[in-house]
Amino acid sequence: MVPKIFAPFLVFHVLLIANAYGKTHHHTFVVKSSPYTRLCSTKNILTVNGKFPGPTLKVHRGDKVIIKVYNKAKHNITIHWHGVRQKRNPWSDGPEYITQCPIQPGNKYTYKFELTTEEGTIWWHAHSGWARATVHGVIIVYPRRGHHYPFPKPYAEVPIILGEWWKKEVMEIPGNANVTGGEPILSDAYTINGQPGVLYPCSKKGTFRVTVDYGKTYLLRIISAVMDEDLFFAISQHKLTLVGTDGSYTKPLKTEYIMITPGQSMDVLLEANQPPSLYHMAARSYSSAKGAGFDNTTTAAILKYRGSYPPPPSPSFPPLPPYNATQASTDFMRQLRSLASKHHPAKVPLEIDTHLFFTISVNLLNCSNKPCTGPLGKRFSSSINNISFVTPSMDVLQAYYYGIHGVFEDDFPRKPPKKFNYTGDNLPENLLNTAFGTKALVLEYNASVELILQGTNVLVGDNHPIHLHGYSFHVVGWGFGNFDPRKDPSRYNLVDPPEETTVGVPNNGWVAIRFRADNPGVWLMHCHLERHQSWGMSMLFLVKNGATPSTQMVRPPLDLPKC
Ligand code: C2O
Ligand code: CU
Repeated sequence: MVPKIFAPFLVFHVLLIANAYGKTHHHTFVVKSSPYTRLCSTKNILTVNGKFPGPTLKVHRGDKVIIKVYNKAKHNITIHWHGVRQKRNPWSDGPEYITQCPIQPGNKYTYKFELTTEEGTIWWHAHSGWARATVHGVIIVYPRRGHHYPFPKPYAEVPIILGEWWKKEVMEIPGNANVTGGEPILSDAYTINGQPGVLYPCSKKGTFRVTVDYGKTYLLRIISAVMDEDLFFAISQHKLTLVGTDGSYTKPLKTEYIMITPGQSMDVLLEANQPPSLYHMAARSYSSAKGAGFDNTTTAAILKYRGSYPPPPSPSFPPLPPYNATQASTDFMRQLRSLASKHHPAKVPLEIDTHLFFTISVNLLNCSNKPCTGPLGKRFSSSINNISFVTPSMDVLQAYYYGIHGVFEDDFPRKPPKKFNYTGDNLPENLLNTAFGTKALVLEYNASVELILQGTNVLVGDNHPIHLHGYSFHVVGWGFGNFDPRKDPSRYNLVDPPEETTVGVPNNGWVAIRFRADNPGVWLMHCHLERHQSWGMSMLFLVKNGATPSTQMVRPPLDLPKC
């Protein structure tokens, strides 16, 4: 028993500890349709709280977040906290029919999570079909209270969300739901913080602007919420210093441009050290799939120095690599290194007990009755290890937790069903076919996993941004062509490989990632190019519980939506 006189000290102490370890943030997200004008016309888009892009969450590492999401739209909705590990709590992860049933119109659901290991910039987005095109926003995770950035404190920070805009209502574009079998229509613009910029009609007025003071350093928190294309991004006359990716720090990397895939986030320092003036920042597509159409427009925003100077007749544009510059894309990727410092160590698994090899393909199937709108009247499909993911009609997580049969199978293959020259030219036509299923690959708790993601040239090669929920991973190696298990592992970087939650698997190449399966639950892995995902380029990891209560999934919340 505590003597009465000490009680106030104890209370004081407990408060202090609570403060050091974090604070709880409460937010309300109302998903609704709101009118927005871009490219000379007005349409209704799905928003959170009427905002596009949506609200920014600012938290410290160690904090908790509780978000009530009300669905006041006509569409089903879920929200995914992209880059948040959701340790032991897949119930708040968000992908619809994977970890929850969607929040139906008129209903609500409360997401709860803690920022435990992630630090830097991550984001949130709808995980319900194409809703994420407009339902997305930034999550800024500052260092723990009392801790510092591993670089000099920037003077100010600027979130930069790269997006994609369609003149049509995205939820109603037929190809977007994969019903026609063809490609979704191309977007009409890319955007920087919701604005297309001067190179598009009717866009001068709303163009996004950042004002800077000469001599100061700014932290740009860049996110790609783009649906279907990788982007090159640069700022005229200014060098960028990359210091973080996907919520973990990197060794400072000086670069003229970045290549950012859908799903990735990058923390970039910008020194305002050029003659005071106006400059453009700009982004445009890196599109490596041969013959595939893409939106080849350029989005721009303005970097403006404070002060008086004669304004330039037109602010200069940065040179961006050409759209098909795979070399420029991989030159950037090649230089990425995690910080791997005393305070931010790289915990790369060194002993591997679980070896996995996945092929990633775009497929083409015959259409049964009427011709589809894909090439040759066929329909697009896509697959991992030749299985095209079929979305179930109730969520896999509940099916697993309550032992409900018939929702998913636990036999996702650990290697492709057949070996072939994955990245060869003119591959035989029978490779175009794929099987279908809702399959999970079961991992033992704490398994030490190496996964080779092998791109293929089955229909056409592409740069696939593969995103894993519930984890971050170390990108220990990559290359072009087929992965060679005899030679390639000797060239792995096991010292300071970049730590990411989304990795671009180079066109007709491979990537080796490593992670420790220490987060029990059902976790989706998929291509973050929306068209590929909607064609089936997804799979599930089912990570078993550990032996002790603190290594097991928490119980489902009472307000989990019903299907
Ligand atoms: Cu950002 Cu499953 O996605
Ligand atoms: Cu893809």
